[in-house]
Amino acid sequence: MSSSNGKLRYDGRVAVVTGAGAGLGREYALLFAERGAKVVVNDLGGSHAGEGASQRAADVVVDEIRKAGGEAVADYNSVIDGAKVIETAINAFGRVDILVNNAGILRDRSLVKTSEQDWNLVNDVHLKGSFKCTQAAFPYMKKQNYGRIIMTSSNSGIYGNFGQANYSAAKMGLVGLANTVAIEGARNNVLCNVIVPTAASRMTEGILPDILFNELKPKLIAPVVAYLCHESCEDNGSYIESAAGWASKIHTVRGKGSVLRPSLDDPVTIEYVKDVWSKVTDMSQAKHLNAIGEASGTLLEVLEKLKEGGADAVEDTFEFNSKELITYALGIGATIKNEKDIRFLYENDSDFAPIPSFFVLPGLLLTMSTDKLISKALPNAQVDFTNILHGEQYLEICDDLPTSGTLVTSGKVFDVMDKGSGAVVVTNTDSFDESGRLLVRNQSSTFVVGAGKFGGKKEPIAGVVPLQPAPSRQPDASIQYATSEDQAALYRLSGDRNPLHIDPQMALLAGFKTPILHGLCTLGYSVRAVLAQYADNDPALFKAVKVRFSGPVIPGQSLRIDMWKQGTRIHFRTVVVETGKEVISGAYVDLKSAQAKL
Ligand code: NAI
Repeated sequence: MSSSNGKLRYDGRVAVVTGAGAGLGREYALLFAERGAKVVVNDLGGSHAGEGASQRAADVVVDEIRKAGGEAVADYNSVIDGAKVIETAINAFGRVDILVNNAGILRDRSLVKTSEQDWNLVNDVHLKGSFKCTQAAFPYMKKQNYGRIIMTSSNSGIYGNFGQANYSAAKMGLVGLANTVAIEGARNNVLCNVIVPTAASRMTEGILPDILFNELKPKLIAPVVAYLCHESCEDNGSYIESAAGWASKIHTVRGKGSVLRPSLDDPVTIEYVKDVWSKVTDMSQAKHLNAIGEASGTLLEVLEKLKEGGADAVEDTFEFNSKELITYALGIGATIKNEKDIRFLYENDSDFAPIPSFFVLPGLLLTMSTDKLISKALPNAQVDFTNILHGEQYLEICDDLPTSGTLVTSGKVFDVMDKGSGAVVVTNTDSFDESGRLLVRNQSSTFVVGAGKFGGKKEPIAGVVPLQPAPSRQPDASIQYATSEDQAALYRLSGDRNPLHIDPQMALLAGFKTPILHGLCTLGYSVRAVLAQYADNDPALFKAVKVRFSGPVIPGQSLRIDMWKQGTRIHFRTVVVETGKEVISGAYVDLKSAQAKL
């Protein structure tokens, strides 16, 4: 309700304010009355420690209201007798629309010195009293489909305060009470919010520094409480902190958290909890949950995650468009000198398409960008650019490939093997498009030099894609490509910036005389050869590739790809022409259908 001059009004509303004989409650009562509400001024009139009783406190405020032309009655009951307080409202005015649970006392003692009586009295007045008054008012409010309820909390509850164990507990209890009242009343427009005030009153006298005490007038908070109780305010379950003419909402937040075991079949161990503790307590991605259902919803997500790969699954996004596709194609030797390569190099070509091996990148970048995957798998080993070698790669295309988009890639360690001189870590990464369509799967084996002899198994588990030896006959076809001395420098632009491929010092550290070409670049050349030989350069016919990187290539060397056709499986090996050394072995490409071009 608002008057013609735009002032928010409470005409026809009945407001019960507990503890309204002094401090904050008095200001609330005065403001409600001034704006047209009929007010029940409740106050027991005892000491600030909850001793004694006097009618004077409530009477003085009622007088004040009446003198100013407002309507009010006094109620001298303790809030612990909440039903009687509400009865006063019903008897005097026939209804109750607003309840501000404000009455309070203090019995501050350090935890050890807090007596049971100190505990009980404080909790009774604040927590039980608010419960009793709310419980009594609730049926009236629900019936009339209108109600506004305020609980009064405190920073002492939210943050804790020395010497206020009883009070802090009660004040946080009120937050919990408000949470549930807000839910139970919502359907009937009975809304419940929390005020967290700081004001000068007899309660804070001697506690707040003088300079603050004089600025923290209760009058500055009353409009916040009054607004929360107005029919135009639709907040429900909010906690509002207010002081000194300032107010702000307070939220509880929850971090992203961490799964506490590798898979559903594993137990949760103290050691695992310790290992992931920094993730458990990381609040960088904290979020507010609006309802308890959201909390259990996350638990379902956790179970799903465990089924998919557990705590060690990591995720990354990968954005690409024609620029990335063309840069990649150039990086693996596609050239406008070959008219059939134009489709990989010119975005306006009617057949513009990615070279399928481009899609090794999201998996590789996820594995590289995160030390999480490989180093987590080998917690006791040093893992860096100088001691990792790309061992094997498998790529499978699962759906039609787009020419631009954002992929979400999720990866996990799939297997770890102990090869003595080093460890092999097998990672699986799945990449999805924006609509959740699985586009590609990658599996990479990384050899970590010097990380072996940890007592692990030697053989791979099922699901590690095996290599296929080439037939023993002479190759059915061979294609030769010259690489340029700048091949690695160009290929780097597709994302793999490992300095081993450009920095002579880093190459020396890793045991090579000069920087070497990326294994995946050689894979790209090889895939191009198979597509050219058996698929008329149609990338849509490509299904999968598996390779083992068996030796280094120096940029500038020439590559010969020897191929054997076995139905739709094209076995191949890649050889450095200048040295005759095999650099890709046991490899094959699966095509959807193959042309019998020999
Ligand atoms: P206050 O002491 O000035 O007023 C509290 C009133 O409640 C008193 O008039 C008292 O007689 C009455 N009361 C006490 N026990 C009662 C009972 N059993 N039944 C009915 N009335 C009773 O205190 P103030 O500062 O105005 O506090 C109001 C509320 O705000 C309290 O709940 C307090 O805990 C809370 N609060 C106050 C802060 C402040 O900075 N003043 C800080 C945080 C919370």
